[in-house]
Amino acid sequence: MSYNNLIYTIKDRVNTISINRPKKLNALNIETFSEIDHAVKSSVSNPEVRLIVITGVGDKAFVAGADIKEFVKFTMEEGFQLSESGHKILTETIENCPKPIIAAINGYALGGGLELALACHLRVASENSKMGLPEVSLGVIPGYGGTQRLPQLIGKGRALDMIMTGKMINADQALDYGLINYKTTADQLMSFTDDLAKKILLNSSNAIKHSIKSINAYDKSGVDGFKVEMNEFGKCFQTNDFVKGTTAFLNKTKPDFN
Ligand code: CAA
Repeated sequence: MSYNNLIYTIKDRVNTISINRPKKLNALNIETFSEIDHAVKSSVSNPEVRLIVITGVGDKAFVAGADIKEFVKFTMEEGFQLSESGHKILTETIENCPKPIIAAINGYALGGGLELALACHLRVASENSKMGLPEVSLGVIPGYGGTQRLPQLIGKGRALDMIMTGKMINADQALDYGLINYKTTADQLMSFTDDLAKKILLNSSNAIKHSIKSINAYDKSGVDGFKVEMNEFGKCFQTNDFVKGTTAFLNKTKPDFN
């Protein structure tokens, strides 16, 4: 499958999806986020892929937000639909993906770009990255889940500060806030991310799938996360990976989950 706005490479069971609109700082138009949705869903059904990395082409931006040019003339109804599509076909697909997704943030991650990163399971950022939700400076609010996922990750007070001031924070501050999991140099971003992927891939992909489902139930209104955990825990028993993992432990060897 070829995409207009994405490049992807599958190597060592990792699909690296690079958003490829560098002249527009990888701004997310509707075509691009539909392509991301397609690329993620294709990775889910591809047995060769066990982990996904999302990054941006170029050395300046991960994604500088939703494409402002595209929505500038939108009515209230169209604005609602844009947000709904961003949720349904971008951030929810990513957050609920049963295979782990790492955002490798290589520069500006603003607005919808930060919201895309927030939906990923882990975030690694290069030290030149700048992150923020500047939507109020445009007279709008974050529309791809930022008002919900940012406070879940860094707390309501810090999220209100970031959203109301629209300020950008650097990788050190983002690390301090818990907004990113790791900070690297720009040169080492992809090799660090690769090493992180390798560590995750040593573990059972089936158990990781059930962990993602259970953790996603945390803080979800109307969902009993503890009950979800009980169900997902139970579903692991006597699977191939469970037999391999527990047998290897009892035999004092390492399991091979490939
Ligand atoms: N949408 C559309 N085009 C964008 C863009 C965006 N979000 N961000 C950057 N671009 C385009 C610029 O228009 C420019 O295009 P031209 O060369 O055709 O003029 C090109 O990318 C390069 O950008 P700049 O010249 O502005 O680069 P800079 O280095 O001077 O500034 C920047 C970089 C500070 C990131 C600046 O580009 C910027 O502020 N971008 C917008 C950030 C933003 O407000 N994002 C939120 C968008 S709204 C949103 O995301 C809503 C939502 O929640 C769903």
